[in-house]
Amino acid sequence: MTEQAIDFLLTGAGQLVTASGDAGPAAARLGVVERGAVAASGGTVVFAGPEAELPDLPLAADAVRIDAGGRAVVPGFVDAHTHLVFAGDRADEYAGRLRGVSYEETLAAGGGINRTVRETRAASDAQLERSTAERLVQAGRHGTTTLEVKSGYGLNVADERRSLEVIARLRARTPLDLVPTFLGAHLIPPEFASDRAAYLDLLEHEMLPVCAPLAEFVDAFCDRGALTVEESRRVLRAGKRHGLALKVHANELGPTGGAWLAAEQRCVSADHLLFLDSAEAAAMRRAGTVAVLLPGTSFLLKTGRAAPIQTLRDAGTTVALGTDCNPGTCYSESMQLMIALACVHGGLTPEEALLAATDGAAKALSRAGRAGRLAPGSAADLVVLAGRSYADLAYHLGVNLAHQVVKGGRVVASDGRPVALLAPEPEPAD
Ligand code: NIG
Ligand code: FE
Repeated sequence: MTEQAIDFLLTGAGQLVTASGDAGPAAARLGVVERGAVAASGGTVVFAGPEAELPDLPLAADAVRIDAGGRAVVPGFVDAHTHLVFAGDRADEYAGRLRGVSYEETLAAGGGINRTVRETRAASDAQLERSTAERLVQAGRHGTTTLEVKSGYGLNVADERRSLEVIARLRARTPLDLVPTFLGAHLIPPEFASDRAAYLDLLEHEMLPVCAPLAEFVDAFCDRGALTVEESRRVLRAGKRHGLALKVHANELGPTGGAWLAAEQRCVSADHLLFLDSAEAAAMRRAGTVAVLLPGTSFLLKTGRAAPIQTLRDAGTTVALGTDCNPGTCYSESMQLMIALACVHGGLTPEEALLAATDGAAKALSRAGRAGRLAPGSAADLVVLAGRSYADLAYHLGVNLAHQVVKGGRVVASDGRPVALLAPEPEPAD
C-alpha cells in the first residue's frame, strides 16, 4: 500500500470520542481516548487514538493542523431527521401552543403543515433556496456535518420536485453531506380531502417518477390526522419500487401501528415513537430498523411524553437522534440542544445521547462507519468542543459549544462563525 501524506492532523484532544465500539454498554461503544489525536488523508481518517501511538506518517506541507488544547473532540454530529426545506414561519402558532392550544387542534383548523405548504408553494425558487441555506449554515456552525433533509411542504408534483431540487443545488454548494428524502406523504393536501386515493395515485404515478431520482429515502407521516397504515404502506412500497430506502414517521401522536409497519417493510428507521411498546421495539430490532428519537419535538409538544428509552434499551434497538427541524413542532438546527434534551427530558445517559447523535444517526441514514465515527476509513468530520468533556453537551446549556467544526479534514466553522459552509450561488449561465 502506498503511503499517502497526512493532510489533516489534530493533536491535544483532552478527550477524544471515537464512537467506534461495536458492542457493550454505551460507555464502551463511545470509545473515549485520553490525550487523543486524529490524522486524515484526502478527507478520510487514517488514525484516531492516543497521541502517543500516532504512526510516523509523512505530513503534507500544507496540512491542516489543529491543537485542540486539551478540549474534548467528538465526531461531527449526524442529524437523522430534518424538514429544512420550507418557507415562512409559524411563530404565532407556536406561541399559541405555549398558551395551551394543541398541535393536533392547530392542524385540524387548517394551520400546521398545511399553512407551511401554502407558504412554500408561494415562495420563489430563490427564496426557498436561501431560507434552506440559512438553516444549513446554522446546523453546520453547531457541529452537524451530515444531515438528512426532507421535502414534504410541496405536496404537488412541481413543488415536491422543486424542494428536492433545492436540496440538490445546496449539495453542490456545501461540504456538509445532505441526505435527501422524498416526503410527498407528509399529509394528504386539503384539495384531495374527499378523494385521498387520488392523491396517492398522483404520488405514485407522477411524483415518484420525477422525485425518486433526486432522493435516497422515501418517508410517510403515518399517524393520527395524517396517513393511515394502509396508505403509508402503499407509499413505502411504491418508493421501494423506485429504488428508495424507507423511513416512516411513526407513533408520534398515538399507538397507530407505524412501528409495526416499519418492521414489516424493513424500514431503515422509524422516527418519533412516543407510543411504543416492547413488542414493537423488539420487532424493530429484528428488522434492523433504527429508532430515531426527536427529543426537541416531544419536549415542545408539551404532553410530558418522551420516547420510552427503557423499552428500547431492553429490546436492544439501535437509537439515533435528530432535530426534526421544522416550522411547527421544533424549530432548531442544533444537535447540541437535542443531546441535552435527550438526557434531561428523554432519560438517555450522556453516553447514549452522544452515540445516538453520531454513530446511531449514521446508521439511520445507511452511513454506518462512514459518518458518525472517528476511526480508520471514516470521514474526517469532527467537532472540537469548547469544553474539556463530552458531558458538557448535556451540562453547559444554551450556548454553541462547537469551537471548531471540521468536515472532510477542512475547518468549516470556527468559534461559531461559518468559514466554508456555503459557496455563493453560481452565476446563471450566459
Ligand atoms: O416531524 N410529524 C410530521 N412532521 C413534522 C411536523 C411538521 C410541521 O408541523 O410542519 C414532525 O414533527
Ligand atoms: Fe418529522
